[in-house]
Amino acid sequence: MAEKKTYYITTPIYYPSAKLHIGHTYCTTIADSLARFHRLRGDDVFFLTGSDEHGQKIQRAAEAKGVKPIEYVDEIVALFQQLWKKLNISNDDFIRTTEERHEKVVQKLMQISYDNGDIYKGEYAGWYCTPCESFWPENKLPEGQHICPDCGRPLELVKEEAYFLKMNKYADRWLKFIEENPDFIQPESRRNEMIAFVKSGLEDLCVSRTSFDWGIKVPWDPKHVVYVWFDALANYLTAAGYIDDPEKFEKFWPANLHLVGKEIVRFHTIIWPIMLMSCGLPLPKKVFGHGWLIVDGTKMSKSLGNVVDPIPLIERYGADALRYYLLKEVRLGQDGNFSLPSFINRINSDLANDLGNLLQRTLAMVEKYEGGVAAGPTVKEPVDDELAACAVETAKQFEALMDDMKINDAINDVWGLIRRSNKYIDETTPWVLAKDEAKAERLQTVLYNLLESLRVIALLVSPFIPVSAADMWKQLGLADFDKALLSDGQTWGGYPAGTKVCKGNALFPRYDLKEEIAEDEAAKKAAQACPAAQEPTKPEISIDDFGAVDLRVGKVVACDKIPKAKKLLKLQIDLGTETRQVVSGISQYYEPQDLVGKSVVVVTNLKPVKLCGVESKGMILAASDGNGNLQVVFADGMAPGSRVR
Ligand code: ME8
Repeated sequence: MAEKKTYYITTPIYYPSAKLHIGHTYCTTIADSLARFHRLRGDDVFFLTGSDEHGQKIQRAAEAKGVKPIEYVDEIVALFQQLWKKLNISNDDFIRTTEERHEKVVQKLMQISYDNGDIYKGEYAGWYCTPCESFWPENKLPEGQHICPDCGRPLELVKEEAYFLKMNKYADRWLKFIEENPDFIQPESRRNEMIAFVKSGLEDLCVSRTSFDWGIKVPWDPKHVVYVWFDALANYLTAAGYIDDPEKFEKFWPANLHLVGKEIVRFHTIIWPIMLMSCGLPLPKKVFGHGWLIVDGTKMSKSLGNVVDPIPLIERYGADALRYYLLKEVRLGQDGNFSLPSFINRINSDLANDLGNLLQRTLAMVEKYEGGVAAGPTVKEPVDDELAACAVETAKQFEALMDDMKINDAINDVWGLIRRSNKYIDETTPWVLAKDEAKAERLQTVLYNLLESLRVIALLVSPFIPVSAADMWKQLGLADFDKALLSDGQTWGGYPAGTKVCKGNALFPRYDLKEEIAEDEAAKKAAQACPAAQEPTKPEISIDDFGAVDLRVGKVVACDKIPKAKKLLKLQIDLGTETRQVVSGISQYYEPQDLVGKSVVVVTNLKPVKLCGVESKGMILAASDGNGNLQVVFADGMAPGSRVR
């Protein structure tokens, strides 16, 4: 037997600030089907995904919600983990960059690189909004203007102390490595882009920051936190056991494949190898940049409102259907389009008609004509050899194609076998054979061949639609699907004669396209009317938790705009025993004079904050539908200081 190979495959670690969308499921589904393929082949697989949890953006998002960064990320990461479970992602580990095991690794790597003389102290220059305390990259600013996109104030060009990694020092070694490892960057077009990029001269990389602190401390200078890539990319080493498990590390590092979206190929193929060179570690074997999933021909974006949430799709159509569609419809390396009609059509034609029907028809005939048990083949005809050859050839070709990451071609080949098997039914007409006693053995042979073909098919579809494949296996009357190997499908005749089949439900239901589209339209309309209603409810709290919030009626005695802060109003509120200043982001919805004299509900025991430099001691309650409509909660007629419970 061939020696058992190891296979370490990773997805990128996802930012928990993003709303879950179908683009996330795309990358992880590809990685999962490759991991499952390698397991099926008998390889020792380590499949990693995770979350990228540090940075200023997350710190600010948490602040805006009034929670600690770790609480903020915990909630979103739990949603990601739920999604992977629902999609039957078979990852062996889930790394979070906030874990202690990762902190140790990042600090160790930084220290090695520093000790090697590759990291030096310099200055990071960027456009900064002092009141909002945030840096803005040039590409996030309105063209030619240096104005804070949040509050509208002018930005300043400021410099902050930061550490940098000497990138150019390794440029020649990098070019040599790429020349010697032509398969390292895939697809090839991306490789040429990267070579041109390096040849044009590399800027040193900023690897630490001092203007925020949600990150891993730089070991020799703890007022700095590690910035972006030194933290994020190192996850691949942490999970492989770089510090904690040398044996595992020896076994799995270097990784076989980092599967990443095309926009982060540069970081994985230039920065990452240079970081590893600086730390004296071996480089991964391959980085593959996949394309983007677009929706109805346009890039998904919040403002366009076309972000497709995978959870409702999985709940309605099943994880396998979504997995199949993503893998089949998008050619790996290119951009691909998601549209509901093409999704429904694929389910109906490929999954329900071609595959589901083949299983149903075969099992129904085995039950009807053979009492559920197919005896072995006895009376052969040339058409049987054609089917057998097609199955064996497909299973062998499948291995080569999947090994080469040609997922679409592999799927097309397997569906070729499925269609060949359906054609075999039409050619052999078992229902005609069943009418003739003398053809009983031929009938048994035909049905046996169909069961055998389905056995091979179940193995071959298992990386793509794992739940349905296991169901097929069970319905065929077979056991121990987990132990089955691809090699079992590469020889013909493995279906044990005399097995009792166990016909179950149809693998995939068929959908009425018009009905599905109408329901989708209705759901979209409801979501448009009130996007806030679609947001997940927060975790349960006790009455005591709620009781900790001090809510009072307050009368607005004065209200002013805050110059240059477009969204904010400054209110003076009479609370019965004192007058408080509260800043509220409602200036797009109310003119100051609309609020004076009104009674509002105030959270009075909220920690004071400064918003655009103005102190706010509390918060007023307002309802918003997430669709640009907002209304302050009024309590007119109630005396200032009244409790709200
Ligand atoms: O980039 N279609 O995280 P991220 C296909 N944390 N893929 C898509 C997609 C779409 N519409 N939208 C996003 C990061 N992706 C870093 C990675 S790795 C050490 C650090 C893919 O959450 C995207 O291409 O912004 C990327 O590969 C992945 O989702 C994570 O994106």
